[in-house]
Amino acid sequence: MPIDIDALLALERECFEVDAQSRNSLAYLLSRANADTYVIGDGEVILAYVMLLYRRNSRVARVYSIAVAATARGQGLAARLLIHAETSAGARGATIIRAEARQSNRGSRALFAAAGYREIGALPGYYAGGEDGVRLEKSLV
Ligand SMILES: CC(C)(COP(=O)(O)OP(=O)(O)OC[C@H]1O[C@@H](n2cnc3c(N)ncnc32)[C@H](O)[C@@H]1OP(=O)(O)O)[C@@H](O)C(=O)NCCC(=O)NCCS
Repeated sequence: MPIDIDALLALERECFEVDAQSRNSLAYLLSRANADTYVIGDGEVILAYVMLLYRRNSRVARVYSIAVAATARGQGLAARLLIHAETSAGARGATIIRAEARQSNRGSRALFAAAGYREIGALPGYYAGGEDGVRLEKSLV
C-alpha cells in the first residue's frame, strides 16, 4: 500500500523540531529505489515509521530516520520497526546497519543500545544547531 505523505509529514513534524524533513524530502525518499520506509498505522494515522537508505555497492544499510508518535511511545513500536528494518536490510544484502543520534537524545540512544547497536564514534557538530551526534552500528551477520 502506498504511504500517505500527509500522515507521514504530520508524524515527522510532531516528532522532530529542527530536524524535521520537508514534504519534498519525504516524497523524494519515498520514491527512491535505494530507500525503504516501513510504517505502523492506526486507521489513517501513522503512529511510527522507520526509513532505511542503501548505497550502491555497499553492504552498509543506514537507519536514516525512526520516530514514534508521543502517544504511542514506550510500547515497543520502535523496537519492532528496527527488527523489521534489520531483517529487510539483511535481505537486501547488508551485513552492517548504522544509525546516528543526537548526543542529547537519550531515548534514541537507549533504543539503539537495547537493540544491540554499539556507539562507534562521535560526529562533531553533525546536527542542525551544531550539536554533536553519535554513530551507532550493529552487525547483521
Ligand atoms: C526514540 C523513539 C523512536 C523510541 O520509540 P518507542 O516506540 O517509544 O521505543 P520502544 O518502546 O520500542 O523502546 C524499546 C526500548 O528502547 C529503550 N527506550 C526507548 N525510549 C526510551 C526512553 N525515552 N528512555 C529510556 N529508554 C528508552 C528502552 O530500553 C525500550 O525498552 P523497554 O521499554 O522494554 O525498556 C521515540 O521516543 C521517538 O520517536 N522520539 C522522537 C524522535 C526521535 O528522537 N527519533 C530518533 C532519531 S535518531
